[in-house]
Amino acid sequence: MTEIKINVPDSYKVYIGKGILKNCADILKDNNIDGKLVVVSDSNVAPLYLDVVINSLKEAGYDVSHFIFKAGEESKNINTLSDILEFFAESGLTRRDTVIALGGGVTGDMTGFAAGTYMRGISYVQIPTTLLACVDSSVGGKTAIDLKAGKNLAGLFIQPKAVICDTDTLSTLPDSVYSDGMAEVIKTAILSDKELFEALEKKAPRENDEYVIAKCVEYKGKIVAEDEFELGVRKLLNLGHTPAHSIEKLSKYTIPHGHAVGMGLCIMTRSACAEGLIDEELKDRIIALTERYGLSSKSPYSPKELADAAFYDKKRSGNTISVIKIRALGDCFTEKCGMDEIEGIFSRGNANGCKN
Ligand code: NAD
Ligand code: GLY
Repeated sequence: MTEIKINVPDSYKVYIGKGILKNCADILKDNNIDGKLVVVSDSNVAPLYLDVVINSLKEAGYDVSHFIFKAGEESKNINTLSDILEFFAESGLTRRDTVIALGGGVTGDMTGFAAGTYMRGISYVQIPTTLLACVDSSVGGKTAIDLKAGKNLAGLFIQPKAVICDTDTLSTLPDSVYSDGMAEVIKTAILSDKELFEALEKKAPRENDEYVIAKCVEYKGKIVAEDEFELGVRKLLNLGHTPAHSIEKLSKYTIPHGHAVGMGLCIMTRSACAEGLIDEELKDRIIALTERYGLSSKSPYSPKELADAAFYDKKRSGNTISVIKIRALGDCFTEKCGMDEIEGIFSRGNANGCKN
């Protein structure tokens, strides 16, 4: 098992390994978690993994109940959040108790938000079961729900007490959901260094999960420790996310987050090439890697549609928005752009307008 410490003021560990779910109670005990527990999970994950988690917790003497919601991004809203909070209250949770998010990014984001608001904040643990949640959403303390106007528009920062990634859970992921996670992995590889990028070029999908998750968590942990509340360097983690959030919104969330991020990365890659920031060779490598992991490199929307939808992006501040640009593997930077410049950036990243 790999253990990675996230050095925020209330530091915590991410545990990564095969088959560690059945011993999750030991990890909770090691982290001095006692009191009542509520496990929150979705309708796809609960039939697969709830029993193993509950059995481990009950055997260790925990008083545990569970709440299950309908799987899918469309559940990540104020109504499900309200149901979760009411369940916490009905279960008699107090400020010394803990909730557990068992599932993908939707479960983690919503359970974390509920934990952060219930009685002005109680502890929570993340047990991510998608690649995306293992490499990204379970670490760093961002929680949210979606509003009608856009993604993740209501939320708060609250770090978990521990993160438990059992790589065996990824074996039941449909290929397309696995690819969603690969978009965040490829994003991290572009941001971090050549090593992860080259490893991804060499290996086949699903061949190297523990290594890939550990590399991504290490990188994200370093950034979050430096800038927990996204005032500076953490903005880099939004590489590709401005077009991605527009794509998700325009598709009415039928294009999942990871697939939209894959398209967003390719838009920002072509745009960087057209601006002369990267050469054709790197552009081709990034696009080939994205496609190799089951992601589309082409957005179905025009640059104007993407730019109009970006108005609802929470990264917009007045008439400007921060976008992340690529200069090399391991060298990306944040640039503040006028909202009127965004369409130009997306046009340069449009697959049809590209030189190749
Ligand atoms: P998800 O939670 O909806 O999971 C995707 C699908 O896979 C769901 O149908 C789920 O039921 C199913 N599933 C989960 N684990 C499974 C397993 N082991 N076997 C079989 N099926 C399984 O979506 P996601 O892709 O994990 O996360 C996307 C969400 O994460 C978005 O809402 C996005 O905004 C959010 N996100 C948050 C952060 C953050 O920092 N907080 C970062 C990136 C993304
Ligand atoms: N997923 C981006 C972040 O956590 O900052």
